[in-house]
Amino acid sequence: MSTTFIHGGTVICPTGSQQLDVLVDGGTIAALLTPGSTALGADLAADADVTIDATGKYVIPGGVDGHTHMEMPFGGTFASDTFETGTRAAAHGGTTTIVDFVVQNPGMRVQDTVARWHDKARGNCAIDYGFHQIIGGVDDESLKGMAELVSEGITSFKLFMAYPGVFYSTDGQILRAMQEAADLGALLMMHAENGIAIDVLVEQALAQGHTSPYYHGTSRPWQLEEEATHRAIMLADLTKAPLYVVHVSAKQALAQIAEARGRDQNVFAETCPQYLYLSLEEQLGAPGFEGAKWVCSTPLRARAEGHQDELWRYIRTGDVASVATDHCPFCMTDQKEMGIGDFSKIPNGIGSVEHRMDLMFQGVVEGKISKESWVDICCTNPARTFGMYPRKGTISPGADADIVVYDPNGHTSIGIDKTHHMNLDYSAYEGFEIDGHVDTVLSRGRVIVDDNTYLGSRGHGEFVKRGLAQNLI
Ligand code: URP
Ligand code: ZN
Ligand code: ZN
Ligand code: ZN
Repeated sequence: MSTTFIHGGTVICPTGSQQLDVLVDGGTIAALLTPGSTALGADLAADADVTIDATGKYVIPGGVDGHTHMEMPFGGTFASDTFETGTRAAAHGGTTTIVDFVVQNPGMRVQDTVARWHDKARGNCAIDYGFHQIIGGVDDESLKGMAELVSEGITSFKLFMAYPGVFYSTDGQILRAMQEAADLGALLMMHAENGIAIDVLVEQALAQGHTSPYYHGTSRPWQLEEEATHRAIMLADLTKAPLYVVHVSAKQALAQIAEARGRDQNVFAETCPQYLYLSLEEQLGAPGFEGAKWVCSTPLRARAEGHQDELWRYIRTGDVASVATDHCPFCMTDQKEMGIGDFSKIPNGIGSVEHRMDLMFQGVVEGKISKESWVDICCTNPARTFGMYPRKGTISPGADADIVVYDPNGHTSIGIDKTHHMNLDYSAYEGFEIDGHVDTVLSRGRVIVDDNTYLGSRGHGEFVKRGLAQNLI
């Protein structure tokens, strides 16, 4: 096995930043050394098989994106990134682990759906990957399957309060799944929107001839996110299940979560870059059918309502546990276009697995969060929440050598013809100019991206058998 010596950089951890050299031996981090403190450092530098000069740069743990949907079946089509294309794009953006959602619909054995996901991912990934399980059909059989999945390293289960007739669970089903999750110590993930009420608003909007993508947003108002979030919190409180609310976009829903956390309840919030940067007015409200590019659920919120500043604030207070992408790409051609004349037929999702680290670094550049918080919400805390720490999410001896050398003085232009490697015929962030640049990416000690060049290989990525959440109260 080869050795790599990364020297001259600033290692960033949630607890602080320090000038440290990093010695990688094979696939793991062997040692951190204070520069110039010993003759050992100079010897190691001379002897290493690979030497990386990180002078003036940040050395951070590889990104952990806890929410992706590669090849997800949705709305009569499939998310356009395969595990091969999606993980390669993630690598370009400094993400070295994803956790993807296995999909189960009513009547399917959860064990069979996991086997299918393993078949899709095995041998195809550029980076390491884990799975969450979506349970679309909560019944005796699927509930029994949860224990087996936990023993196989799938320790989190997503239910939906939205999408009646597709993934929707009744409150009774949610209660039962939460009881089972509590027994197992597993994380219950929730898509918290009141789908029954939303369906009525969608029907009414269409009946009034409001068919454009903008009305996807207005038919999913924040009140129905806040209400569902509150209901999920109460059911979790009753059952003592640890709760992780995915893709939170409404400040009112986050306030519910912050309040529950204040009562020492194990509730975690996830938000996504789209809710921090994009809006109902500017993106969903774009002329013609253009807004379809940004149809996702929960929806982009009205900028005028002030959600974004509150989301950033809740990142600072620690009430947002992680920022994930909810990467669920659909091309405009043939996919999003299915909803021309009826916004409810637009497949829901935005692709951005490649841009999360850069987009969130803009929060550092703009003084909204510290660079330590950037690493915490993008790398360390997702690893803890999803039971992968300290193997993932940290630069420390014994950890997997998943490392990003990030240049804070570099520059990245986002756009389909520029840095975009996702299998997607548009970019949700077209024209964004980023202060910062992912220079070098290592996955388990191997350089997989260097100076925008992909050096990895299909099949390098391995399945990560996860443990239970490590940050429960
Ligand atoms: O619009 C979204 N979020 N699509 C992916 C499925 C989900 O609900 O996470
Ligand atoms: Zn969801
Ligand atoms: Zn999702
Ligand atoms: Zn650079």
